[in-house]
Amino acid sequence: MSHLFTDFQLKGVTLRNRIAIPPMCQYSSVDGYTNDWHTVHYSSLARGGAGLVIVEATAVSPEGRISPACLGIWNDDHIEGLAKIAAGIKAAGAVPGIQIAHAGRKANANRPWEGDNHISEGDPRYWTTLSPSPVAFGANLTRVPREMTLEDISRAQADFAAAAKRALQAGFEWLELHFAHGYLAQSFFSVHANQRTDQYGGDSRGRGRFLLESLDAVRHVWPEHLPLTARFGVIEFDGRDEETLAEAIDLSRSFKEHGLDFLSVSMGFSTPQANIPWGAAFMGPVSQRVRRETGLPVASAWGFGTPALAEGALAKEQMDLVMVGRAHLQNPHWPFYAASELKEENAASVLPHPYSHWLSRYR
Ligand code: NDP
Ligand code: FNR
Repeated sequence: MSHLFTDFQLKGVTLRNRIAIPPMCQYSSVDGYTNDWHTVHYSSLARGGAGLVIVEATAVSPEGRISPACLGIWNDDHIEGLAKIAAGIKAAGAVPGIQIAHAGRKANANRPWEGDNHISEGDPRYWTTLSPSPVAFGANLTRVPREMTLEDISRAQADFAAAAKRALQAGFEWLELHFAHGYLAQSFFSVHANQRTDQYGGDSRGRGRFLLESLDAVRHVWPEHLPLTARFGVIEFDGRDEETLAEAIDLSRSFKEHGLDFLSVSMGFSTPQANIPWGAAFMGPVSQRVRRETGLPVASAWGFGTPALAEGALAKEQMDLVMVGRAHLQNPHWPFYAASELKEENAASVLPHPYSHWLSRYR
């Protein structure tokens, strides 16, 4: 029996295997609402057999959307559509998760396939972007954001808490806070984005304050029996990696003390000047270090999309779950493929009966 196809229990939730589908924006929404695209997309992914399916970055406020086409959860009217998605994932045997997010200075961009750059002022889809300091990301995202006031900070944290409540009402059983990829929370943590001199800037404790307080706000409303998790960019590959990693591990230990149950180990993407060592499974050692030094169960992504690499990451104890993203876009039945490659007994049983019966009967 492989490591990949053993179950995983966290709090009151059991995943049928160690394959998780990470959040992947679909840029297919209007006003934050789900539609048939999302409903079909997520139930198809869940049907493929993964243990956990995490719905894409879903904005806690309108200005927190990466693009005008991103999903939202800032309004009670968003709950109904999201509930349909959570139910569809669950009906297919996976645990329904959702990532709640604020895009900060990377918000208000065109879709990736329509430029991936900031929307121009004067365009009816323009809105003001917010960040800890008035510093642009650079590259294709050149807009200087407005520096957040203390009131803006409290509001954003309240938005995260309100979004968590709605996620619970919608039936999600795994909540992921987006503290990664150069968006709002990561920008508070990053020296590339945060130049504040008040209590939300300065040393790593100051730069970590927004994240810790946001976690506290959510912990307060998210039930103890369900996993509360975060995706955190613990490394930038910007030349100060040892320092960033040490600070991130220290902050992650505080997350754990404040009630975080699980960490998805990712990258910062806070500067276009990074030198990322792209390659198969390159985040494995980073994930392993975070796992060891924080004592938190973790997942990681980035190039684990072959069964051997995914299995290897678990066998080497680099992580507890493996996030397999783009390989699922290529083949939504990736877990069946993985089970076959890993010579699992009755591999087809990872699929629902209307598929598995025929696939196991006539080989
Ligand atoms: P970009 O997509 O602009 O990528 C930044 C740099 O990393 C570019 O040089 C790009 O190469 C390179 N790159 C990105 N992904 C890969 C990869 N898988 N393999 C090799 N090179 C890669 O940056 P963003 O800030 O928009 O996104 C950062 C990452 O997060 C991306 O990998 C993207 O897939 C992912 N993402 C995250 C989202 C979220 O968290 N909500 C939303 C959408 C994407 P090149 O210049 O050749 O493209
Ligand atoms: C992503 N990624 C991403 N990450 C995240 O935290 N929230 C998100 O909403 C998105 N959106 C997104 C959209 C698309 C189309 C892609 C391809 C990626 C990053 C994603 O979760 C994952 O980390 C990467 O795709 C790397 O894993 P794989 O694809 O190598 O398995």
